[in-house]
Amino acid sequence: MEYRNKLVLAPMVRVGTLPFRLLAAQYGADITYCEEIIDHKMLKCERRINELIGSTDFVEKGTNNVVFRTCDEEKDRVVFQIGTSDAVRALTTAQLVCNDVAAVDINMGCPKSFSVSGGMGAALLSKPELIHDILTTLKRNLNTPVTCKIRLLKSPHDTVELARRIEKTGVSALAVHGRKVPDRPRDPAKWNEIADVVSALSIPVIENGDVFENDDVERIKSATGASSVMVARGALWNASMFSPEGKVSYEAVKREYIRKCILWDNDIKSTKHTLKEMIIHYSCLELPEGKAVIKSESMADLALVKAISIQLNLIFPPPSSRLKPKSLNSHS
Ligand code: FNR
Repeated sequence: MEYRNKLVLAPMVRVGTLPFRLLAAQYGADITYCEEIIDHKMLKCERRINELIGSTDFVEKGTNNVVFRTCDEEKDRVVFQIGTSDAVRALTTAQLVCNDVAAVDINMGCPKSFSVSGGMGAALLSKPELIHDILTTLKRNLNTPVTCKIRLLKSPHDTVELARRIEKTGVSALAVHGRKVPDRPRDPAKWNEIADVVSALSIPVIENGDVFENDDVERIKSATGASSVMVARGALWNASMFSPEGKVSYEAVKREYIRKCILWDNDIKSTKHTLKEMIIHYSCLELPEGKAVIKSESMADLALVKAISIQLNLIFPPPSSRLKPKSLNSHS
């Protein structure tokens, strides 16, 4: 896995499932992170090959609840992000998936109370020994590249010290979100503090924060010196921002996203959440399309939402033809 000069889709809970990752890659993302998956949840899963749609699924034992779905096409670029507070659990989780993904990443930046109260995400930032324990345990026992994603600490000096300790564990790259734990998403990312980390390390640093347009990429790379750039909200709103040829319309991106969700039998909650985020950004949930998306209870309901089915130009094919893998012409 090469981490230099890459455009990276950031991990996003309830967004970064297989169809969204394939969407981002189609428009030009080189590396695509899955949504954060908590170790406890993954440890209840077994690996199953889904012959019907051609995916590899990690499914909660005794249920049909797919916790992580991937496919061969993304094997060389998908990064599996783990939410953890424990080295052994992190390793056992990573061992479950490491042959199906390109790399594993530890989330050390999530400020949400669910993560922090469980000792995960940003809670790790104040526990450098635990960070060391988790990362060295993964490095010692896996052949897969290991990375982590942090936020800035209170002072630039503290961030650089932590980044140096992380580099010593042998990780392949470090993603730095240029905000501090109390910062809100609307607060500007502090690119100058990312630049301090870049100057102090030899491993690739992935800049994250406030990249919304493809044109921003080179400017931000030269402002920070970062090797690569990671995008969350800019990609969520219009995944074609990864394209060097410029964005296509949000309607076209939405249509392609829904097509992929249908082909890959995406979870309805994740699909609705992602669509709602797109619609809120460009339009309004109070309009008929938004209201119908909110009401949908299944992928079939969604495909029949008038505005969407007109755009899709697709009437749901009968199940027999829909389920034959050979009928999926362009399966990405
Ligand atoms: C996130 N973020 C995030 N970070 C992470 O490490 N794991 C995750 O699962 C998530 N989930 C998530 C969901 C959604 C909907 C958003 C908007 C964000 C944080 C994200 O990866 C990124 O660090 C920040 O959003 C900053 O990047 P942008 O948005 O300025 O490009």
